[in-house]
Amino acid sequence: MTAARQPFATAGVPDASVVSETFISPDIEMDLGAPTATGPFEVKLRASCIVAEWTAKHGTLLDLAEANGIVAPSHCRAGLCGTCRTTVHSGDTESLTGAATHDATILTCCSAPLGPVELDL
Ligand code: FES
Repeated sequence: MTAARQPFATAGVPDASVVSETFISPDIEMDLGAPTATGPFEVKLRASCIVAEWTAKHGTLLDLAEANGIVAPSHCRAGLCGTCRTTVHSGDTESLTGAATHDATILTCCSAPLGPVELDL
C-alpha cells in the first residue's frame, strides 16, 4: 500500500486526496515476532473493568482480552485494517510486526506489553 501511494506523494498530490482501501484474504497467515518481554505483567482493561495477567504464552493483547471474555473489535488480525486499534492510557507496548507507533494507540491484534499497561478496552 505504501509503495502504491508513494508516486502520488512524489508528484505532490496531497495525501488526503488519495483514497485507498485494504482488502484482506481470510487465509492470511500472520508472522508475528516473539515478544521482547515475557511478563508476567498486569493488564488493565479499563472499559471492561478487568485486570488480567499477561505472559508471553497469552499471545497478543487482543488474545488476552478475548481470553478474558471481552468481545473486542477486530477483523484482519494482521495489523492491516485498524479495527482493533485502542488507546493506551499507561504503560509501554511493542508491535510484534515491527511497525512504529506514532501516538497513544496500538493495534491489539499484533501488540504485546513491555510492562504493566492500561488499555481502553
Ligand atoms: S484486527 Fe485488523 S489491524 Fe488488528
